[in-house]
Amino acid sequence: MDNEFQVGRVPARHVDDGESLLVVDDLRTHFEVPAGSVRAVDGVSFTLARGRTLGVVGESGSGKTVLSRSIMGLNTSANAITTGSVMYAGDEMVGKSSKEKKLLWGAEMAMVFQDPMTSLNPVVTIGRQLTEHVRYHLDMGRKEANEVAVALLKSVHIPEAESRLNNYPHQMSGGMRQRVCIAIALACGPRMLFADEPTTALDVTVQHQILNLLAEQQSDRAMAMILVTHDLGVVAGRTDEIMVMYAGKAVEKAPTAELFSQLRHPYTQGLLWSIPKVTQPKHTRLNAIPGRPPNLISPPTGCKFAPRCAYAQDLCRTDEPQLRSIDSPDHVFACHFPVGTPEGEAAFQSNIDAGHPPALAAVGKLRATEEVSA
Ligand SMILES: Nc1ncnc2c1ncn2[C@@H]1O[C@H](COP(=O)(O)OP(=O)(O)O)[C@@H](O)[C@H]1O
Ligand code: SF4
Ligand SMILES: [Mg+2]
Repeated sequence: MDNEFQVGRVPARHVDDGESLLVVDDLRTHFEVPAGSVRAVDGVSFTLARGRTLGVVGESGSGKTVLSRSIMGLNTSANAITTGSVMYAGDEMVGKSSKEKKLLWGAEMAMVFQDPMTSLNPVVTIGRQLTEHVRYHLDMGRKEANEVAVALLKSVHIPEAESRLNNYPHQMSGGMRQRVCIAIALACGPRMLFADEPTTALDVTVQHQILNLLAEQQSDRAMAMILVTHDLGVVAGRTDEIMVMYAGKAVEKAPTAELFSQLRHPYTQGLLWSIPKVTQPKHTRLNAIPGRPPNLISPPTGCKFAPRCAYAQDLCRTDEPQLRSIDSPDHVFACHFPVGTPEGEAAFQSNIDAGHPPALAAVGKLRATEEVSA
């Protein structure tokens, strides 16, 4: 590809040495509000090696954005309490001062957000936004920064890069704006990129282009990447590992191929069934997961997914399942009656026999989510 330009000290074609760049241990972020404590991220642990991509998947409100922001140290609101550990390149992030964190943002860790309009300044040209960012971090003169800006726009495949520098964000399409945001995020050669629903605001064709661009840049620069999305389809062919989140916790985590061939958590199964099929006629009602995610101030006891789960049994309503594995050790899930096991199948069948609405919905007897009372 036409990516002759590499800013920063990350060598092109760096070979993954397997060393963990990021080690997240029992990370929790709670927001204190008048009604209580919102447990947005509630004990998440994982590691990510250099050059690898982790997909973080879950419905809206499951804690994906708060997780990414907590890792970067961006949850600075007065009511946010973050505990646990985030080791980035051997350095503890939790408890760092804003001044220390600012040195890492952009240079080591960068983020691409859902809506490019919120991260771009509407009254400043693209060129100035790029060059100011580059000059701030890389201590360059105006002319040199200009050259870097053009090279960056070319590297994200923006045609006529020189003349685009004079554009304001509103003069570009949504896809082009997101390319600019990616260029800004990549400007200082970060080793870790967070892409938080980077294509949600874009139409389907442009979505693919942007996801391909991210994958290309990630592999060329050997960055570690966390790709956050509510759509399992987005991470299917683009990640090494997937972590499924529900109500602030990781409920299943596995190498991507294994997750799709042998998923164990009923929630993961629900997400998989929610992916629109290209063969479906337009406006077909999706097999969406019935019900709503729980209130994070006072979630149900036991498994938080139980009220919506097609497999739920009495045990689920009293005992919270912990992460465990029955396949390979790097495939973990938190469920008492896992999908694809004899106990899971028996639990599912007993719920169908008893007319349990989520189980009926799962087999398509009730398709409309509003018909399900769970
Ligand atoms: N500043 C805040 N104060 C209180 N609650 C918050 C705050 N930010 C996020 N939340 C809550 O944390 C939960 C997780 O949010 P978020 O991480 O944005 O979800 P996702 O990105 O998965 O859609 C939501 O219930 C949200 O309302
Ligand atoms: S079977 Fe039980 S433990 Fe497993 S997801 Fe359903 S409710 Fe939770
Ligand atoms: Mg989000």
